[in-house]
Amino acid sequence: MARILTGIQSTGTPHLGNILGAIMPGIELSKQKDNEAFFFIADLHSLTQIKDGNQLRKNTYATAATWLAFGFDTSTNVFYRQSDVAAEVCQLAWFLNCYTPFPMLSNAHSFKDKSQKLSDVNAGLFTYPVLMAADIIGYDADYVPVGKDQQQHLEMTKDIASSFNHIHGETFVLPEGLYDKRVMIVPGTDGQKMSKSYNNFIDIFLSDKDLRKQIMKIETDSTPIEEPKNCESCNAFALYALLADEVQIAKMKTNYATPGYGYGHAKQALFELICEKFKTERARFNELMENTDELDRQLAIGAEKAKAVISGVVAKVKSKTGY
Ligand code: ADP
Ligand code: TRP
Repeated sequence: MARILTGIQSTGTPHLGNILGAIMPGIELSKQKDNEAFFFIADLHSLTQIKDGNQLRKNTYATAATWLAFGFDTSTNVFYRQSDVAAEVCQLAWFLNCYTPFPMLSNAHSFKDKSQKLSDVNAGLFTYPVLMAADIIGYDADYVPVGKDQQQHLEMTKDIASSFNHIHGETFVLPEGLYDKRVMIVPGTDGQKMSKSYNNFIDIFLSDKDLRKQIMKIETDSTPIEEPKNCESCNAFALYALLADEVQIAKMKTNYATPGYGYGHAKQALFELICEKFKTERARFNELMENTDELDRQLAIGAEKAKAVISGVVAKVKSKTGY
């Protein structure tokens, strides 16, 4: 039995990049025979950026509702909020801090990137990878499905775990990152990586009207409508191609090559494809957001199961380190 583990921060409602890059591939893995999934909402990590409790809570519910709307089965897997195991995971993070070389953290791309973009550069942002390592190592995870942007964090986790194992003997399972080669990085409306922090995301859970508006904002070049267009360099096409089947993609390529077919048409087709493809998930998401008691109930069950596992790992660490 392989244990698959991943977390998603609650810094907003999960966007199309999170869904295609993390949530859908994660759920697929959880359904494979002999896999057991630990999926959680990394709401303690979110505190590095969000200081408004109401907002944080709302984001946490939206993140939980997304996993459930996309069909994550909480009866056979473990689904929890990181903050519900705060005592254990933060304790473990402290131990791991003491096995983490300072230069490794200062060289983290994600920290460098965030510290240039954000006005609040706090120590939590700096030690973020150590808490992430505790999230993974604390549950003896074998595989961690994440986007390619998290690869360095995964390498750091392995380094920290190996360093502890080297000093104290085999204690931690060394996790492997799983990067979905097909999806890789989903582009945002401006062609950069889709991200909450770049405000270039598509939120599929918006109302039809607002979703359409967001899609219409996708940046395209100024080729006039009467000229053929290059689909290869178009953001709207790139997003379409990630969601459409082969027949639809071939048809869209022909459309781009046909004079009179404009970017507006392509964006409308993308909007319709998203509505059609995610019809059930969008409806289920709204139902769950109206019933947060149900979300709390499911998360509480997961927290119990998660706590039982991480407590065992913390006890082992304490014993090995002489406490
Ligand atoms: P954001 O960049 O919007 O803050 P997160 O860093 O919270 O997103 O990412 C949550 C998960 O979604 C991670 O596993 C990450 O790799 C994945 N992810 C985020 N953005 C993308 C994207 N544009 N394409 C593919 N996967 C993504
Ligand atoms: N850092 C991850 C991200 O931003 C979120 C995360 C926190 C995570 N802890 C984790 C992902 C543990 C995988 C495993 O996407």
